[in-house]
Amino acid sequence: MASSKASFPSALSHSHSSNVLPTSQSLIPSGNWFYTTAAIVISLLVLEQTVYRYKKRHLPGSRWTIPLIGKFADSVNPTMEGYQRQWASGALSAISVFNIFIVMASTKDFARKILNSPTYAEPCLVHSAKQILLPDNWVFLTGREHVDYRRGLNALFTRKALGLYVGIQDAIARKHLTRWLAESAKDPSAKPIMMTARDMNMETSLAVFCGSYIPERAAVEISEKYWDITLALELVNFPLAIPGTKVYRAIQARKAAMQWLELAAKRSKESIAAGNPSECMLDEWLLALNDPAYKGRKEFSDREMAMVVFSFLFASQDAMSSGLIYGFQHLADHPDILKKIREEQERVRGGDPDRPMTLEMMDQMPYLRAMVRETLRVKPPVTMVPYKTTKAFPIADDYTVPSGSMVIPSFYNSLHDPSVYPDPDSFTPERWLDSESSANKNPSNYLVFGSGPHKCIGLEYAMMNIGLVLADAAMLMEWDHALTDKSDKVQIIATLFPQDGCMLKFRPRQRA
Ligand code: HEM
Repeated sequence: MASSKASFPSALSHSHSSNVLPTSQSLIPSGNWFYTTAAIVISLLVLEQTVYRYKKRHLPGSRWTIPLIGKFADSVNPTMEGYQRQWASGALSAISVFNIFIVMASTKDFARKILNSPTYAEPCLVHSAKQILLPDNWVFLTGREHVDYRRGLNALFTRKALGLYVGIQDAIARKHLTRWLAESAKDPSAKPIMMTARDMNMETSLAVFCGSYIPERAAVEISEKYWDITLALELVNFPLAIPGTKVYRAIQARKAAMQWLELAAKRSKESIAAGNPSECMLDEWLLALNDPAYKGRKEFSDREMAMVVFSFLFASQDAMSSGLIYGFQHLADHPDILKKIREEQERVRGGDPDRPMTLEMMDQMPYLRAMVRETLRVKPPVTMVPYKTTKAFPIADDYTVPSGSMVIPSFYNSLHDPSVYPDPDSFTPERWLDSESSANKNPSNYLVFGSGPHKCIGLEYAMMNIGLVLADAAMLMEWDHALTDKSDKVQIIATLFPQDGCMLKFRPRQRA
């Protein structure tokens, strides 16, 4: 501020003295340049404000946008409180970040309308996502092409395929939980499970997706490097992927992962060609493609298959870890609910905690399923997904979102709507057990996995995995939550996590 006050008169005085004493310097009309530049800058600033206000019209939001950066500072360190303030300001409200005009939609009806209007709006992942996932990844397809590609991938999530995955998930979960117990035996103090849960989740995903075609050391390497990808998923990142930037590190992590995934695709093709039985998702995919009844594209390169697997890792690693961590936290904080989970487990497993889990057994665990639904509702891993308007979108009678804007539906509000979920912040699995409850009568409010053509393709898989890890944990161990003043505060690192990383200590469960 002080410097701008000082420079303005000095520029004037320079121009004045040049009239008195002509020098070679005075031949350059510096005053004109100054005024011209200033006029251009002021015009651009006025234009920026005018365009913002024209687009915003009557929507709630700042009357003026901060020149050039807008609400950039808020997007660097997003908080739930900040989002809640924004949502509370109106059903639709406006902000601008780096001149991207953004409409935030806080109600369920607007959220569903955005997600189900593919002719007006398409998902628009954060800018860094294209650099990390590669621009030709299927997740960036739109319209008919997207529908067709996705239809082919449904073969990876059939009941038969899920039946195969459940055994793999169960084995890996037990291996990790046993390791957690061993670590706790060495040092019984409470520790954050943030990273240990992420590692378990990554190993599970890679084993389900790639079976033994990917060695364990690769899973460890990918898991360690994956955190760089999570960190690069900010709304706004430094645009150039140069060494030292988050996006650069994320791209290196993707390159390392893709090498292993391409190798896995190649090995899967060899194995299926040799007539071996299916052992993972890649195999399931190839078997589906070989099925004479399968219609659609039959050939996929190793790279394409690897990109699909990578898109699944990308879509699931943070969300699944968030769901799992909050699952552990909720059960630790609600011993009555953990008790009911255990009763159901004892009954279905016939009193044998080591009995391997099957899909048929999971079908007989309605309380477990209700608990998973509820934990994901109370703390939805994905609170919103940015969409971009491909043309002017008449979202309400009195407002049209301009073409090329970002429009961001809130899932959180719909999942905390008190008219559908009475006492919405309470963790009450029972609300899902009564077919007449408002939760069950209003399935469209349950936006944990989105809605419409881009609704999560892995939702059954995700619910199954979170459920079985928590069920195995309930059978094998006791866990205590070391509450801190950050346990109930949320940090947003792509998805939601407890700010203290969920501090737990584990003990083996005494068998009856
Ligand atoms: C708790 C775990 C998960 C949550 C909360 C979650 C949530 C979501 C949400 C909100 C969307 C966007 C939906 C929309 O735009 O309407 C989405 C899309 C997607 N999810 Fe998930 N997801 C989870 C796990 C998974 C898993 C395990 C996989 C894969 C195995 C997966 C694969 C995908 C893919 C590929 C998309 C994009 C679909 C498309 O564009 O057609 N997700 N997910």
